[in-house]
Amino acid sequence: MNILLTGGAGYIGSHTAVELINEGHEVIVVDNYSNSSPEIISRIGKVAGRLAAYDADAGDEEKMRQVFLKHKIDAVVHFAGYKAVAESVQQPLKYYENNLSSLIATLKTMKAFGVDTIIFSSSATVYGTSQTAPFDEGMGTGCTNPYGWTKLMCEQVLRDVAKAETGFTAVILRYFNPVGAHESGLLGEDPKGIPNNLMPYIQQVASGKLGKLSIFGNDYDTKDGTGIRDYIHVVDLAKGHVKALQYAQEHRGMEVFNLGTGKGYSVLEVVRAFERANGVEIPYQITARRKGDVAESYADVSKAQVVLGWKAGKTLEDMCRDAWNWQKQNPEGYKNSGRMQRQAKGL
Ligand code: NAD
Ligand code: WQD
Repeated sequence: MNILLTGGAGYIGSHTAVELINEGHEVIVVDNYSNSSPEIISRIGKVAGRLAAYDADAGDEEKMRQVFLKHKIDAVVHFAGYKAVAESVQQPLKYYENNLSSLIATLKTMKAFGVDTIIFSSSATVYGTSQTAPFDEGMGTGCTNPYGWTKLMCEQVLRDVAKAETGFTAVILRYFNPVGAHESGLLGEDPKGIPNNLMPYIQQVASGKLGKLSIFGNDYDTKDGTGIRDYIHVVDLAKGHVKALQYAQEHRGMEVFNLGTGKGYSVLEVVRAFERANGVEIPYQITARRKGDVAESYADVSKAQVVLGWKAGKTLEDMCRDAWNWQKQNPEGYKNSGRMQRQAKGL
């Protein structure tokens, strides 16, 4: 199949591109590189083989139309969007505009070209703060920040389109906490500035870029008082998209799936696992809770297992090892990574 990945140069998109190419699909990436770099396209090429890439905004209908004219697209995986929770509180309009307009322009272009299958990147953040883990897809939703609301609004847009258009398929994937990197060390997460998320922060403490980790609270009602999350290896997550696309070939309408491991680990357990897996020390201090954090978040993964036939296979140690391998090989992320092979074409 010819599969268009909006935001395909991003952290999850790039790993998914590799898995799709490995499965024999043609991959077409549309990315405006607002949070990535064209170098990533070269890296995907090195790991998996040829792909097409366009430097374009998924919210730009005319540019999307040109991509659909050039390629006979069979299905879309929509990763494009902004994802920083704290930034979304500071700049809500930036988030509502980009995350909603990129989905709507993509859906309008799909409709114009008769493309009826989309896989959408949603988030466990839509379970909000009032549910008790494990979270299952039938539970109520609610958000505490604009980023989360954009995900819920996009889910609603897809639900309504699926109701209105016979033959339309939307598979909504609610990711838990993606971490780790490709085992080649060529692809990984490259946050701008000081990382907001736990694993990239730990990686930068391990490399000496940051002094010590602040653990946000040790007074939660959890096994050791620190927050519990469902960390999932990004390669397992990427494989979940391959399964979702297979499912979408045989089903119509809208369906939601959690993608996690179903296991919760505390912040301290992650720190210890990283130290053990990599033989490094992670100095830390306990600080106040971070506003908006829940004590425990982990998935009920039975629906993805039964319906998609997908299950995460990698351990927390694998995640820590691959994250550190990526960090060591790319201390500055994708910057300074040799000659930039600008394979990505503008439109
Ligand atoms: P990322 O920032 O690495 O990737 C997103 C990509 O989209 C980037 O390459 C960025 O340049 C691109 N982009 C943004 N707006 C665009 C636009 N209008 N047009 C074209 N390209 C655009 O993020 P990621 O971690 O790979 O996340 C992918 C998706 O998964 C996002 O929608 C995110 O909200 C969602 N998600 C991520 C996580 C996570 O923890 N990483 C968890 C749950 C959901
Ligand atoms: C994990 C745990 C922190 C950093 C976020 C988004 C969510 C989704 C995934 C996109 C928590 C603790 C963290 C640090 C710490 N993204 N922590 N010190 O908050 O579960 O989810 O990323 O959809 O929407 O909110 O992930 O990695 O930030 O935090 O102690 O420096 O680590 O308190 O318990 P989170 P995280």
